[in-house]
Amino acid sequence: MDVFNQKRLNDKPISGTGIGLRSPHVNEILTDLPEIPWFELLADNHLVEGGLIPLQLEKICQHYPVTFHSVGLSLGSVDPLDMNYLAKLKKIMKQYDIAWLSEHCCFTSVAGFHSHDLLPLPYSEESLSHMVNRISQVQDFLGEQILIENVSSYMKFAETTLDEADFISELAEQADCLLLIDVNNIYVNHINQGIDIDNYLTSLPAERIKEVHLAGFDDRGDFILDAHNNPVAEPVWKIYESLIQQIPHVPTLIEWDNDIPSLQRILDEAQKAEVIADKYRSGNFNYAVS
Ligand SMILES: [Fe+2]
Repeated sequence: MDVFNQKRLNDKPISGTGIGLRSPHVNEILTDLPEIPWFELLADNHLVEGGLIPLQLEKICQHYPVTFHSVGLSLGSVDPLDMNYLAKLKKIMKQYDIAWLSEHCCFTSVAGFHSHDLLPLPYSEESLSHMVNRISQVQDFLGEQILIENVSSYMKFAETTLDEADFISELAEQADCLLLIDVNNIYVNHINQGIDIDNYLTSLPAERIKEVHLAGFDDRGDFILDAHNNPVAEPVWKIYESLIQQIPHVPTLIEWDNDIPSLQRILDEAQKAEVIADKYRSGNFNYAVS
């Protein structure tokens, strides 16, 4: 599977700091075609036939490398995998030459009822085995590796017996999948649950990390919420630098989903990430909205 993925990456490289494509910016981007290295699109928005969104997807893919980020696979659920959803994903990824698919280490459905939240799992040998099996099924069906993202959580299950980082690392090894490390989620879990950041970063298998996420949280007083509604916080930038100096050529993505600011404001965050990563590599990318 590595050879397959490498071919795709070489054809349409995902490198530097991209941004999540959000609807308020689509017209501006398609009109001005600003220099942005790549976009991550929410896959679930593009599984419909006809309408305006497929037209936008086609135009974005004509000009930019694109990855898909999914929230609907519900990998941690015991509901059957939605093969119809997966078949649509496979078809559209091939049609538009989508570089890769990422999903979350979570579940989003119970008994056929779909939550709109990324619900965390207990980290145990039993849930690890379940996730390995589900990821393997998805990868076999798609014919390529997927990226699994660590999620934020606000409670610890009584059934949890493994550290989150150990669970994620073991999952990647056993399922032979890749990782998307969300730095903000690590910080959120540190503040809310006291996870050890240094231990987390050193536990991760660096060679499997293919994407890094940055986002802002919302301070709710006695906890912080992974709300994607603010600039990246200073402590998160510090964790980002600790991580990216180990893997400076791994692409980064800025997520901003609520209280969405101007495109230029998000690109300012991307430029900040590039400046940090560039300290550990040669060459960088200039962001300019014309
Ligand atoms: Fe993320």
